[in-house]
Amino acid sequence: MLTSQPLPLIWKTPATVRAWRRHQTESIGFVPTMGNLHLGHASLIERARSENAIVVVSIFVNPLQFAPTEDLDRYPQSFDADRELCQTLGVDGIFVPMPQALGLTPQAGFDKNQTGVMPRESMTQVMCGRSRPGHFTGVTTIVTKLLNIVQPDRVYFGQKDAQQLAIVRAMLRDLNSPVEICPCPIIREASGLAYSSRNQYLNDSDRQRAAVLFQALQQAAALVTAGVRDGSTILQAVRSHCATVTELDLDYVELVDPVSLLPIECLDRPALLALAARLGTTRLIDNIVLQTRPPIIAIDGPAGAGKSTVTRAIADRLGFLYLDTGAMYRAVTWWVMDQGIALEDEAAIATLVTRCDLDMQPQADGGCTVTLNGTDITQAIRTPEVTANVSTVAAQKAVREFLVKQQQAFGDRGGLVAEGRDMGTCVFPAAEVKIFLTATPAERARRRSQDLIAQGYPVDLAQLEAEIVDRDRQDSTREIAPLRQADDAIELVTDGMTIEAVIDRIISYVQGDILP
Ligand code: PAJ
Repeated sequence: MLTSQPLPLIWKTPATVRAWRRHQTESIGFVPTMGNLHLGHASLIERARSENAIVVVSIFVNPLQFAPTEDLDRYPQSFDADRELCQTLGVDGIFVPMPQALGLTPQAGFDKNQTGVMPRESMTQVMCGRSRPGHFTGVTTIVTKLLNIVQPDRVYFGQKDAQQLAIVRAMLRDLNSPVEICPCPIIREASGLAYSSRNQYLNDSDRQRAAVLFQALQQAAALVTAGVRDGSTILQAVRSHCATVTELDLDYVELVDPVSLLPIECLDRPALLALAARLGTTRLIDNIVLQTRPPIIAIDGPAGAGKSTVTRAIADRLGFLYLDTGAMYRAVTWWVMDQGIALEDEAAIATLVTRCDLDMQPQADGGCTVTLNGTDITQAIRTPEVTANVSTVAAQKAVREFLVKQQQAFGDRGGLVAEGRDMGTCVFPAAEVKIFLTATPAERARRRSQDLIAQGYPVDLAQLEAEIVDRDRQDSTREIAPLRQADDAIELVTDGMTIEAVIDRIISYVQGDILP
């Protein structure tokens, strides 16, 4: 293959990686693999390439994660082709150790004479964990070793191995790892069969038969779209569909929470539908995330991190509702004024809001149309009079309580992006995608100073930064709706990122379906 990219560095030992690593100051994206690279791996590498200054790939067929009865000895290897693909994709370095270089023996099986990293038990008692005891301990142990050697900023995992992704994500959280895990969607052949190194074991007719797995998953998704919510009905439909291919031996089909992997019986939230099957001696896995409605994206973070620009742009790109909470407070204020009620008459306003039928619909530009009791008030709420009065009305408890309920009702429809301080914690605790958008005070001060300079104002950068730190403290300690980062939020520190890169990143989280 002809390529103009430079040759990737090749490292065979942890010591050589470390010697190189010591001199790196820019962001490193890391893609661990077992080699025999295909388009699934390539998608991870491309994503890492787009988000980091440096990309490292590891190729290591890890004996710890194979049982002695499994295919370690015949696992396909193709280093020359892998290196060429890495070069084409602009990979900077490939770590390709022998087992001994990592202090391991080449035999299959977990080495009990070595320290291991034990995954959460609840996560290994389901799905592949049942039929492959010890497999995930082998994975978490090797991933920890690789991360300790490469020390990346971000590590990329495919949703194809959804259980592995969930277990590694939990491990990084449980061990306070600084590494950010980035999930990537499943890449499929034209037939729907997910790319896998093990597809090589299949002959042509098996390959055709294997396509039934994705068809069965798609059929389940169609049932959900048609309104089915009962988990056992969905599982039974998948089993029946797979049974049409008699050569296929279904190992399991399960419906679990995509993050905790706990079983789900009723589809009242996103669920991971995962299966494994054997065709002859080849074991195949596949999965799909079943959504009962389009996702909610909750974006919280301190002032000045670019939340509203990003939120609007995401709503626009996805055709989602931009939940303009400011417009909602304006709508109530407009109505209070329209009805001639005194702004301070809290009791009258509390009664008024009970008769308020507020609706918001997305507009093409990322904005929204606001109607109140059937009247379009999108323009009316933007007058200087409403602007002058909105803070008095917004401060009232009954108004806030009413509007939070209303926001949650919009959330029930899904397909919504909301920004604020407590969207992911209080308003939409079940949001599918939670982002904590932030930037260091120095960066936010720098951005603010650029705006001020552009408007012709003098700027004291140190003072701006001090004000930002003070505002953060106030926002985090305020009584109503304090700024809080949800436990399951993705923290996105936007220093050095363009707005476009931030938007792309959030959209890729949404399209990857699952949170890191
Ligand atoms: P391997 O099977 O080589 O997969 C490496 C990465 O590629 C995994 O994160 C996997 O989920 C992803 N991947 C594989 N097929 C994919 C597809 N069709 N679409 C998207 N991503 C895909 O998984 C392992 O290796 C090992 O367990 C490892 C993590 C390297 C530890 O040994």
